[in-house]
Amino acid sequence: MMIEPVVDIHLDRVWIEQALRADVAEGFASQPKELPPKWFYDDRGSELFDRITRLPDYYPTRREREILEREVDVIAERSGADTVVELGSGTSEKTRIVLDALAETGWLRRYVPFDNSEATLRTAAAELAEAYEGLAVHGVVGDFEHHLGHIPEGGCRLMMLLGGTIGNFPPAPRKDFLCAVADAMAPGDTFLLGFDLVKEHDRLIAAYNDPDGVTAAFNRNVLSVINHRLDADFDLDQFEHEARFDPDEEWIEMLLRSCRPQRVTIGGLNMTVDFARDERLRTEISAKFRPENIGPELGAVGLAMECLWTDAQDDYALTLSRMVG
Ligand code: SAH
Ligand code: AVI
Repeated sequence: MMIEPVVDIHLDRVWIEQALRADVAEGFASQPKELPPKWFYDDRGSELFDRITRLPDYYPTRREREILEREVDVIAERSGADTVVELGSGTSEKTRIVLDALAETGWLRRYVPFDNSEATLRTAAAELAEAYEGLAVHGVVGDFEHHLGHIPEGGCRLMMLLGGTIGNFPPAPRKDFLCAVADAMAPGDTFLLGFDLVKEHDRLIAAYNDPDGVTAAFNRNVLSVINHRLDADFDLDQFEHEARFDPDEEWIEMLLRSCRPQRVTIGGLNMTVDFARDERLRTEISAKFRPENIGPELGAVGLAMECLWTDAQDDYALTLSRMVG
């Protein structure tokens, strides 16, 4: 029997606009200017990200799916989970691989997608509730940097953070975030983490610079989010998409380069912002990892790594770790 999905909302318009105002005020006052990547994902941003995952040069999604398909029985068996909690769940497309394997064991009871994109989460929740008879889908619309305490209690849980989303945190916030994830877990719960690996720079750069401009549209979309939410007047055509690899930090940076000197008004903040010609706004970092560093990072927050798998080309990796009691 199909169980109607439940969706808890922790992001209302007031919360979102207040958080965006704070991030814009702080990020535009810093040098260089920057914004956190969480603001890409309004309805259009989520759709554009979905298109990115199908681009020929954007390999992470395909590589992650390859590892999941190969290792899913081990993941299901080791997790022993009846509940899957997925942070940054998006369309929950690859999730089905895990849900299928857990359904096969007979243990699966509940799926908790957690995302800040309400429409995308609602669509995924409805589709999964229909596809998996007897599965309780309990979605949480929240910001995983603020609302992890609202994950529904109970069950033996497999927490998942897929898609390389962990790479969007710089090292210090990443440690804080992993610590908060560990705090939200009970002893014995498992954590499945997907992350992209350091590789030839030209392949990394190509993954963020598609010739059809889908990634460019995704990048510029953050300006349209600010226009709509904060009554700003960014002219999207006056900002060029750039993606470059920083070999010291080992991360991709996505930037928007101002095509000319320009002044932008942000009504909702009662402020104007000046951009010099060629001044860059950093909209995202996407860190690339070395497999040997992940175990210690997880260990530092009480997560003991049990498995590390890479795809056949060593492009991407997944780890399964366990919360120690
Ligand atoms: N897991 C999916 C989607 C990855 S894209 C995949 O592997 O393809 C990153 C996802 O995280 C998006 O769905 C975005 O809406 C969500 N997200 C980004 N920042 C977030 C935040 N601070 N809190 C909650 N969700 C966030
Ligand atoms: C979701 N996140 C891990 C993606 C990434 O690769 O950093 C977002 C993305 N940005 C540009 N292309 C894809």
